[in-house]
Amino acid sequence: MVSNKKLLSWVNEIAALCIPEHIEWCDGSQAEYDRLIKLMVDEGLATPLNPQKRPNSYLFRSDPSDVARIENRTYIASTTKEEAGPTNNWIDPTELKRTMKNLYSGCMRGRTMYVIPFSMGPIGSPIAKIGIQITDSPYVVTNMHIMTRVGTKVLETLETLGSEGEFIPCLHSVGKPLAAGEKDNGRWPCAPIEQKYISHFPQDRAIWSYGSGYGGNALLGKKCLALRIASVMAKEEGWLAEHMLILKITSPQGKNKYIAGAFPSACGKTNLAMLIPTIPGWKVETIGDDIAWMKFGKDGRLYAINPEAGFFGVAPGTSEDSNKQAMRTIEKNTIFTNTALTSDNDIWWEGIGYKAPGDGTLTDWTGKKWSAESSNGVPAAHPNARFTAPAKQCPAIASEWENPEGVPISAFLFGGRRPSTVPLVHEAFDWNHGVFLGSIVGSEVTAAALDVKAGTIRRDPFAMLPFCGYHMGDYFKHWLTIGKTQNSKLPKIFYVNWFRKTAEGKWAWPGYGENCRVLKWIFERCDGEGDAIKTAIGMLPTLNAIDRQNLEGVTEAVMQELLTVDHNLWLKEVDSIKEHFAKFGEKLPGELNEELQKLQVRLNNEELASQQATTTVQSKKANNSASTLFI
Ligand code: OXD
Ligand code: MN
Repeated sequence: MVSNKKLLSWVNEIAALCIPEHIEWCDGSQAEYDRLIKLMVDEGLATPLNPQKRPNSYLFRSDPSDVARIENRTYIASTTKEEAGPTNNWIDPTELKRTMKNLYSGCMRGRTMYVIPFSMGPIGSPIAKIGIQITDSPYVVTNMHIMTRVGTKVLETLETLGSEGEFIPCLHSVGKPLAAGEKDNGRWPCAPIEQKYISHFPQDRAIWSYGSGYGGNALLGKKCLALRIASVMAKEEGWLAEHMLILKITSPQGKNKYIAGAFPSACGKTNLAMLIPTIPGWKVETIGDDIAWMKFGKDGRLYAINPEAGFFGVAPGTSEDSNKQAMRTIEKNTIFTNTALTSDNDIWWEGIGYKAPGDGTLTDWTGKKWSAESSNGVPAAHPNARFTAPAKQCPAIASEWENPEGVPISAFLFGGRRPSTVPLVHEAFDWNHGVFLGSIVGSEVTAAALDVKAGTIRRDPFAMLPFCGYHMGDYFKHWLTIGKTQNSKLPKIFYVNWFRKTAEGKWAWPGYGENCRVLKWIFERCDGEGDAIKTAIGMLPTLNAIDRQNLEGVTEAVMQELLTVDHNLWLKEVDSIKEHFAKFGEKLPGELNEELQKLQVRLNNEELASQQATTTVQSKKANNSASTLFI
C-alpha cells in the first residue's frame, strides 16, 4: 500500500493529463517481465530469438526516426539560461512545460500507463536514489527491469522514508495515442522528430520525455536521472555523478584497486570495463561500464557505486576478440534492438567476428532481406544497435559490484581518440592538473564523420558534454572543490590514449586486452612505484616502465613514439584549448586558466632548453671539427 502523498498525487495528476486506458504499478517480477514480452511478441513488436541459441532473448526493431539519443531535442530547463550554460539546449521551464503539457494531453489514450518504481544503485545503499518512471511503453518497462532495480522493494524503501519520502519523478510517453480499436500492428510507436522532447527540470529534479522510445531518451534512469539530474544533485550535495566505468584490477600478489574512467561515447568503455588481461597473473573485473556515483566514505576516500543493474551496450563491433565477456553476457535473457536477424533466428551485426550468411537470408534492422553483396555498403545492423543485458550475467562481474557502500577509487582515467599529440598515458601532477586534463578530453573527428575540418578536436570535457545538467564552468569548479576537501586521499588522475597512430597511419598500440599493461603501470603509480619522468604535460612512463613482455609489434621504437611529447603539436594544442576554454566565459575557473598557462610555460621552457641543448651539441661538434681541422 503506497502512502507517499507526493507520489499518489503525481500519478493521479499524470493519469488525468495523459488519459491512459489502464494504470499498472510494476512489481519488477519475472512474471511481469514475461507477460509484457508476450504482449509485445503478440503485437508483432518483438521477435523471439532461437531458444536453443539464445534463450529468453528478443529482437526489437525501432522506427527509423528513433534510433539514438537526440541531443538537439534534449533540454536543460533550469530557471535561467545562464544556469544551463553554453553547452546545453535551454528553454524557459514555464514555456517548455506548457508546450509539453499540450503534447501529453491525452497522449496515452488506448494504452496502459505503467508506474515503475526503480532504484539507481543497490536498494537502500546510502549512495542510491529512488526514481519513479511513468511510461506507456512496455518495451521501456522490460528494459528498465534489466537496467535498474525495479519493483515492490523500492516502494517499500520509499515507504520507510515516510509519507514525504523523496523520489525523482520521470515522465515518459512514446507520444502515439491509439484511436479506438487501433493497434501498433508491429510498428514501433513514437512521435515525429519535431515533437520529441527529452527535458530536464533541475530545480524540480524532474524529467519529462516525450516522443521517443529509444535508449537514453526513454530509459530515464540512465542518462537523464543518473547523469543530468544527479550531476545537479551531486554539485549541491558534495558528491560526484560521472559518465565513468568502474573496474577492479588485481595483481598477481592478490592486491586490488578500483579504477574509474571517463571516455566519450564510442571509445571502448564497455570493452575496457570487461578487459581480459594479457599479462599472466593479472585480473580485471567489472563493477560498471557507463556511470559512477561517488561519495566520500568515513575514511576520507571516494567510494563509487554503479547505479545501473545492466548493460545497454552498442552491439556492432562487439565480438569474441573485442569483448569476450560481453559475448558471454548476452547469451541469454537479453533484449536486442536494431540488430540484424539470421534465418535461424539469431542476431548478427557488423564486427561480430564472423561473416553474415552469404545467401541473402539475413534480415536487416529495418526488416528487409539483406546480403553483403547487394548491400552497397549499407550495414545490416544499425550502427547504434544495442543489447540490454543483466550485469549479473557478465562472467567478469566483481563479487562486490552491488556493495551498498561502494568501492574505494584509487585512480581516475580520462581519454579520447587522439591519433596524434597525446601520448599513450600520462599522469597529472596533482588534483587541479588532473581536473585540467578532464576538462580538455576530446576526440579527433574525421571530415567524413562531421561537417568539420579533418583533424579538428571535438572536446567532450569529462565525457560529460551531453550529460551535465548545469553550466560546465560550474561543473569544473565542483571538481576543483572536491579536490580541496580530502586532498591526501583523492584518487590519482591519468590521461590515456589507446588511439595513437604511427607516421604511416597505423594504430601504434594494440588496445583491448593489452591495455592492461598501461593499467599495470597506473596500479604501480598508485602505490608510489612505477618509473616515470617529469615532462611539460605530466608524468610519463620511462621507456621500459610499461611491461612489454610477449607483446608483439610494440618495439622500443614504437614505444618511444607512443610516449613522444612533441612540443610544437602541444603548443598548437594549447591554442585549441584556449578556444575551448573561451566558451565558458567568466565561469571558467581561474585554476584551469592557470593550469593552461603553466603548461604553456613548461612547453616553452622545455623547447628552449632542447634548442639550447641542440645548439650546444652542434657547437661542440663544430668546435670538434674545427679542432680536427686545426690539428
Ligand atoms: C551511451 C553513450 O549510450 O554514452 O552510453 O552514448
Ligand atoms: Mn555512456
